[in-house]
Amino acid sequence: MNPRKLFVTTALPYANGALHIGHIMEYIQADIWVRFQRLLGHTVHFVSADDAHGAPIMIAAEKAGVSPQEFVARIGASRAPTLQGFGIAFDHWHSTDSPENVELSQRIYMRLRENELIAIRPVEQLYDPVKGMFLADRYVKGQCPNCGAPDQYGDSCEVCGAVYSATELKNPYSVLSGAKPELRTSEHYFFALSDPRCTEFLSDWTQGGRLQPEVANKAREWLEGERGLADWDISRDAPYFGIPIPDAPGKFFYVWLDAPIGYLASLKAYCALRGWNFETVLSDPLVEQIHFIGKDIIYFHTLFWPAMLKFAGAPFKVPDRVYVHGFITVSGEKMSKSRGTGIDPLRYLELGLNPDWLRYYIAAKLNSHVEDIDFNAEDFTARINSDLVGKFVNIASRASHFVLKNFEGALADVLSAGVAGAGSILRLFQARADELAQLYEAREFGKVMRETMALADIANEWFDARRPWELAKSQDPAARQQLHEVCSVAINLFRLLMIYLAPVLPSLARRAEAFLRIAPLDWSQARGLLPGAHRIAPYEHLTGRVDPKTLAALFEPPSPAARAAEVKTSSPAARATEVEASEVATAKAPAPVAAPTIGIEEFAKIDLRVARITAAEVIDGSDRLLKLTLDVGEARPRQVFAGIKSAYQPADLVGRLTVVVANLAPRKMKFGLSEGMVLAASDEHGNRPGLFLLDPDPGAHPGMRVK
Ligand code: 2FM
Ligand code: ZN
Repeated sequence: MNPRKLFVTTALPYANGALHIGHIMEYIQADIWVRFQRLLGHTVHFVSADDAHGAPIMIAAEKAGVSPQEFVARIGASRAPTLQGFGIAFDHWHSTDSPENVELSQRIYMRLRENELIAIRPVEQLYDPVKGMFLADRYVKGQCPNCGAPDQYGDSCEVCGAVYSATELKNPYSVLSGAKPELRTSEHYFFALSDPRCTEFLSDWTQGGRLQPEVANKAREWLEGERGLADWDISRDAPYFGIPIPDAPGKFFYVWLDAPIGYLASLKAYCALRGWNFETVLSDPLVEQIHFIGKDIIYFHTLFWPAMLKFAGAPFKVPDRVYVHGFITVSGEKMSKSRGTGIDPLRYLELGLNPDWLRYYIAAKLNSHVEDIDFNAEDFTARINSDLVGKFVNIASRASHFVLKNFEGALADVLSAGVAGAGSILRLFQARADELAQLYEAREFGKVMRETMALADIANEWFDARRPWELAKSQDPAARQQLHEVCSVAINLFRLLMIYLAPVLPSLARRAEAFLRIAPLDWSQARGLLPGAHRIAPYEHLTGRVDPKTLAALFEPPSPAARAAEVKTSSPAARATEVEASEVATAKAPAPVAAPTIGIEEFAKIDLRVARITAAEVIDGSDRLLKLTLDVGEARPRQVFAGIKSAYQPADLVGRLTVVVANLAPRKMKFGLSEGMVLAASDEHGNRPGLFLLDPDPGAHPGMRVK
C-alpha cells in the first residue's frame, strides 16, 4: 500500500460565536475520516480556522465595544476546549484575519487579474440612509427573486438555494434600521465566472466523478440553468472588515473570497510551524486536497472555489474532493446558523457527558450522502447503553473478570485453542478489516457501526454459548483450560472490534490500550492476535451508561443568571441579524472565588488516596446518599456514604476508580459509619448543575497517594 498524503479541511466557522452542534457534527465526521486514514498509516494535514471577516463581525465587534481584530481573537482563543473536548485532532487552527491569508488572497486575485478574469463595473447598490453605509448582503432582507420566499437575505435563498444579488430582492428592507434602502452607484470588482474558460472548466470539474452524485447534479443545474453562471461580485466598499483589494483604495474582498483561501492560509501557517515549504506541500501532485462542508455552501465550494484555484495556477491546485453532509436537527428542530440547536457542545462537556458517546451516535447516523441527521435524546441513550455498553464494552468486562480472577490476567494462546469455533470466529472478525476500511473510506460510518455491532452480538453469543460462568465453577483442568481459552478469544475479539471502532472512539481506544497493555492501535494490527501469556491490566471502567437525568440537563434552558446576561448584551438588531456579540460575554463562566491560601504543610495533612468502588447501593430513606464500598489498598474495605445519588446510578459506579480523603475522622451517620469522603466536583453557584466524581487516569491503583 502506498502511503497517501492528504490535506483535509472543515468549513471555517464565522468568528462571531461559540461552536454549535452543527460545527461539531462536521468536525466529528472529518475527524473520524482523518483518524481512520492515520490508522492506515497515511499522512494527513488536518487544518481549519476562524472565518473572521465580513460586515456582521464588524458590527458585532462595534456593539461589543472592541476592535474587530480583538473580537475575533477572543473567539479564536475560546475554540480549544470544545475541539479538544470532543477529541477533534486538528493539526492547526488559524484565522482568515492573518498575514498568510492577506498574502494568499491578494496573490490569487492578482493571478485572476493577470488572466483577465477580473471585471470592474459600476453597481447600483443598496444603501442605508439611516446608518450611512452600503448594506452588506446579510443586512438586507426581502423576498427571494427566484421562489418568492419571504425574509431571505441579500445573497442567497435558504429555501431554494438560489444565489443572487441584494438588488434583485423584492420589497427589500435594511435589517439594521428597518429603513427602505436607496440605490446608489459604486464601482465593484467581479470574478468573470461567465467567461467560457470558467464554464468549460467547471463543467468538466463538477462532472468528473469527484463529487457525490447529488452534488454533481446540483452543480449541473446551476451551470446549465437558464441564468447560467453570473460573474461574481467580489468587492465590498469601506467600511468593511476584510482584506484590501490591491490597487483599489477603499475596496475590500467580499468575505467569501478570502474565506476558502483561509484553508490554504492555515496550511501555510502549519507548514511554517513544522519547518516545511508550504508551496512544495501545496503543489505536490500526490497531496490530495479534500474539503468537508455542509450542504448550504455547495455553490461556493464547487463553483467559485475550484475556478479561483484553477485560474490562479501553480502552486495552487483544484480540490480533489468536496465531501458534503446534511444538517443536524435536534428532535426534528431545524438549526439556526448562528445559534445552532438546543444542544450546546460546551455544556455537553461541562455536564460530564462522554464525548465518545456523541462521536459514536453521530457516526451511527452518518452516510456518504447529503442527508440530514437527527439527534434524539431517547435514541441517543438507547444506542449508547445498548450498543457501546451492552454489546461492546460488555465483552471486555465479562471476559476479563474470569481471566483476572482465575489466570492472573494472563491470556491463553488462542492460535492453538481447542475450544470449539475459536479459530473460525477469530478469522471471521479479522477478515472484516478490508470491508470495514472501504466503508470508512467511503464515509459510510453508519454501516461501519452497524457491522461492528453485529460482530459484537456474534461475540457475545459465542461467549454465552460456552457458558464460562459454569466452567468457572469447575475444578476440572479441562474445564479450566476451556474457560481460559473462551475468555482469551473474547478478549481478542474485543481488541479487534476496538481497532474497527478506534477512529470513532479515541478516548475509549486509549483506555482499552491501557487495559489490554498494548501499543497504540493501528489498522494493520487487525491481522494479528494477542499472544499466549500476554497479560492484561485489571479491568477499569471503559465507558459508563448514559444517565437520562444528566442528559436531560443538556436540554434545560440556561440559568436565569445566564439569560439576564444575554438580554443585557444583545440588542434587537443583533438578535435580528443573528450576530451574537453576547456570546462573547456569556461564554465566560463566573470567575471562581478561591478559598484563603494555605501552606503546603497544611495540604500535606490531607491523605488523599486512589480508591476502587467495589460496591454501590441506594439506601432506603435517603434521597441524597449512596452507600459505597471502597478498596483503598488496605486489608479490609471501607464503607463511605456519599451524597452523589442525584448524579449516579449505583451500577455505573462499580469498578470505577476515584479519589478518597482517607484520613477524615470516621463519622457516625443515621445509616452507619462513614470512613472517608469521595471527591466530586460541583458548582457551588449552581450555574452548572451536576456532580462529577474525580477519576484518575487508567493505570492508577487503589491505595496510591494523591498529591
Ligand atoms: O457558512 C459558513 O459558516 C462560512 N463561514 C463557511 C466558510 S467555509 C470556507 F470557505 F471558509
Ligand atoms: Zn428562493
